Amino acid sequence: MSKLWVLGNGQLGAMLKHAAELLDVEVILVAVEVSDCSKLPSLEEHDVVTAEREHWPDNVVTRRLFQHPNFRSRRAFTEIADRLSEKQLFDKLQLATAPWVVLSQHTSVSDVFAALGGHVLLKRRSGGYDGKGQQWLRESNHDTVAEGWRGQAIAEQAIAFDEEISLVGARSASGKLVFYPLSLNLHQDGILLASIAPLERLQKYQSQAEAMLAKLMNELDYTGVLTMECFRVGDQLMINEVAPRVHNSGHWTMGGATVSQFELHVRAVMGMPVSQPSANKVSVMINILGLEWEPRWLSVPNATVYWYDKKVLPGRKLGHINLNIADSTQLEDSLLALKGLLSERYEPMFEWIRKELVL
Ligand SMILES: Nc1ncnc2c1ncn2[C@@H]1O[C@H](COP(=O)(O)OP(=O)(O)O)[C@@H](O)[C@H]1O
Ligand SMILES: [Mg+2]
Repeated sequence: MSKLWVLGNGQLGAMLKHAAELLDVEVILVAVEVSDCSKLPSLEEHDVVTAEREHWPDNVVTRRLFQHPNFRSRRAFTEIADRLSEKQLFDKLQLATAPWVVLSQHTSVSDVFAALGGHVLLKRRSGGYDGKGQQWLRESNHDTVAEGWRGQAIAEQAIAFDEEISLVGARSASGKLVFYPLSLNLHQDGILLASIAPLERLQKYQSQAEAMLAKLMNELDYTGVLTMECFRVGDQLMINEVAPRVHNSGHWTMGGATVSQFELHVRAVMGMPVSQPSANKVSVMINILGLEWEPRWLSVPNATVYWYDKKVLPGRKLGHINLNIADSTQLEDSLLALKGLLSERYEPMFEWIRKELVL
């Protein structure tokens, strides 16, 4: 049987591998930083290649995998990995996105404010994640562009959004499209803290979001899971960014849907049937950011804990907890048990969950 090679060996790769095992698909995760060719002799013509990240250093290993004839959706990676071509693609498809300009060598800060208004976010064209590689500029503070950003970034208008939501969808090799219900996402300092899905009040935006993501996936002739992060401004969705892969805001599907995003991606890229997933009840996904392993998380009722075994660094994503809940009493119990086991930064999140789920 064909093997599935994954560029990247982080937590997304590990969760893809776990899902693939249940389908008897052998997965080989490949670290992108070291050009260790020792595994490559077993890369065969009929194997399939995918990625769990958008960026990797160019070396003999990454080049061979990315150029493999069965690397799925190569064009999507080329276009989406650079925020400039990503934004150009949204514009070309007339998909609403935050107004932007490219920050070229010759763009002055006053050009940026003149084009976008007095509050602007610079985003590095590649390599940014979890809010890294970004810089806010305010005209009223007389902010200037730091050294090393010109020619490397785009500038985006600050959007006063009502909330952030995301849509995870998949497209099969034959073009069949399936979507999860929208997730509501809470970010703190540019990094995802928690997601809730499905939420009844978001249903009214589902078809608008699906139409946007469908347009993008069809244009790219995409195969696999693709995630779209949006700002909701009134009734209008605006794309923030997309990711040609499984996504943190889809982790709730691991216990909260009939087929997880990881299984869906494996099925799609391996040419297996892709079915419309349905969600069970409601799920809350909470990221563990910068905290040491806490065994008492395992005692929280109805919680499933995922630990990525990464070095603990302040603010770093180290794991997540899924609460897949049948009723509000159960959720109350879980939140109560969890409250003392996280840090202060989570206080607003508990309030947010209570408000959204009307506890
Ligand atoms: N134009 C914007 N206006 C307001 N907030 C923004 C804007 N762009 C990004 N953000 C905030 O920063 C977060 C991270 O930005 P994003 O572009 O998604 O980068 P990353 O690749 O780090 O996820 C977003 O989820 C949102 O909370
Ligand atoms: Mg993002």
